[in-house]
Amino acid sequence: MPEEIPGDEPRLVRLTVNGTPRSGIATDRTLLSDFLRHELGLTGTHIGCEHGVCGACTVAIDGAPARSCLAFAVQAEGRQVITVEGLADGERLSPLQRAFQDNHALQCGYCTSGFLITAGALLDENPDPSDDEIREYLSGNICRCTGYVGIVGAVKQVAAERAAASNGSARDA
Ligand code: FES
Ligand code: FES
Repeated sequence: MPEEIPGDEPRLVRLTVNGTPRSGIATDRTLLSDFLRHELGLTGTHIGCEHGVCGACTVAIDGAPARSCLAFAVQAEGRQVITVEGLADGERLSPLQRAFQDNHALQCGYCTSGFLITAGALLDENPDPSDDEIREYLSGNICRCTGYVGIVGAVKQVAAERAAASNGSARDA
């Protein structure tokens, strides 16, 4: 009879993903990235290095970007998780997704879900980031295709759009 490994018993994990209560089965050692992809079917979160280096697996946990390959599913119990699937409104892309498209900020797209989550957190923290601040904040996300220029441009585009919208509403007030 195989030896039982402590913490290997499956258990129910309940959390909120993209605003919807979800639950699934995980052991203590199930990675959040695997749980999202295999248990919940949210395959937009990609796995690259599985060592916390590339950023492809980034999701937001309670509003903060986190590498889901470095978190266990059980650590997300009761938390609010946002994945790339939660960004668009049906067929309508989020402003950041549209800006990535406008700026040719993706090629193969493998890194893109992680960049979108991290860049969204940056803009929430700093609505008017400089190029250097964008590059610094996104430095934990690796893209092997684009050379980053389009990604920085996309973030700047959304910052400018938000500033224009808030100036417009201040003028209309
Ligand atoms: S897959 Fe998680 S950081 Fe690379
Ligand atoms: S678009 Fe290919 S890795 Fe970034």
